[in-house]
Amino acid sequence: MRLGLFLPSRTLLCDSHRTRKMYAAVTLFVFMCLTATTHADHHHQPCHAPNMTGFMSVISLKGEMKAYGAFTYDSMGKKLRFRSNESHPSNTSLGLDLLMFFDDGVFYEIDSKNQSCEKKALQCTQHPLDIPDDATFVATVNCGSPSIEGEGLKANVWTGTMSDKKGHYSMSVTMGCLPVCTLYFQESSSFIISLTEVEIEIKDPDLLTVPTFCLGQPLEETPEGTVHSFLNEFM
Ligand SMILES: *[C@@H]1O[C@H](CO)[C@@H](O)[C@H](O)[C@H]1NC(C)=O
Ligand SMILES: *[C@@H]1O[C@H](CO)[C@@H](O)[C@H](O)[C@H]1NC(C)=O
Ligand SMILES: *[C@@H]1O[C@H](CO)[C@@H](O)[C@H](O)[C@H]1NC(C)=O
Ligand SMILES: *[C@@H]1O[C@H](CO)[C@@H](O)[C@H](O)[C@H]1NC(C)=O
Repeated sequence: MRLGLFLPSRTLLCDSHRTRKMYAAVTLFVFMCLTATTHADHHHQPCHAPNMTGFMSVISLKGEMKAYGAFTYDSMGKKLRFRSNESHPSNTSLGLDLLMFFDDGVFYEIDSKNQSCEKKALQCTQHPLDIPDDATFVATVNCGSPSIEGEGLKANVWTGTMSDKKGHYSMSVTMGCLPVCTLYFQESSSFIISLTEVEIEIKDPDLLTVPTFCLGQPLEETPEGTVHSFLNEFM
C-alpha cells in the first residue's frame, strides 16, 4: 500500500491548518478502506445510514481535491444536498451545489449566485451515503486501539461493483452505520469520498427542498450515452 500517493504536495501542506488536518484524516480513511482483507461473511446485511448533516470531501487518487463542503442527507426520503465550497484552501475544489432526489430519479444543479438551476434525470442512484443492498461484507476493521477508550474506530467494510460494472467500491461505515469513507476504483478515474463532523440529524430541512427559483424548471434532455449520477459529477 502506498500511502505516500495520497499525501498532498508541500505547498498544499503549508496552505493552512485546516487543509493539513483534513489530509491527515483522509490518509486515515484511505488506510481503512485499503486494510480490508477478503473474509467474506454472508451473515451480514447492509445497514442504512440515519439522517445526517456533516462535511464531505472528494479527492481523486491523483491527489486532486475535487470537492469539499457541507452535506445534508434524509435517509428515509432518500434526498441529498451537497454544496462544495470553491474557496476552500485547497484551491482545486469545484463550486458545486447539488440537490438529489434518489427516489424520484431527478436532481438539480443549483447556482444560488445567479439564481438559476438545471433539472436533470438520474440514471444511476448509487451514492456514498448508503451501502448498496447487494454489497458484500468484507471485514470489521479496528483503526487505532480497540482497547483504549476514545483511541479507536471500529468499522465494517463493504464492497461491490459500480452500477455500470466498470469498477468497484470499498465502503467503510461505523457500527452505527455512519459512512466514514468510500473508495471508488475505476479505469477512468478513482477517487475517495470521506465524511467528517457527522451529526445524526437534519439541521436545516430547507436545504432539502427545491429553491423557489428552480420550481417549474423543465427536465433537461440527457444526451445519448450520458449517465447522470452523484458520482459522475466528480469523474
Ligand atoms: C429524517 O428527516 C426527515 C425529513 O426531515 C424526517 O421526516 C424523518 O422523520 C427523519 N427521520 C428520523 C429517523 O429522524
Ligand atoms: C468556504 O471556505 C472559506 C475558506 O476556508 C471559508 O472562509 C468559508 O466560510 C467557507 N464557506 C462555506 C459556505 O463553507
Ligand atoms: C488558486 O488558483 C488560482 C488559479 O488557478 C491561482 O491564480 C492562485 O494563485 C491559487 N491560489 C493559491 C492559494 O494556491
Ligand atoms: C448562471 O451561471 C452559470 C454558471 O456560471 C451560467 O452557465 C449560466 O448561464 C448563468 N445563468 C444566468 C441566467 O446568468
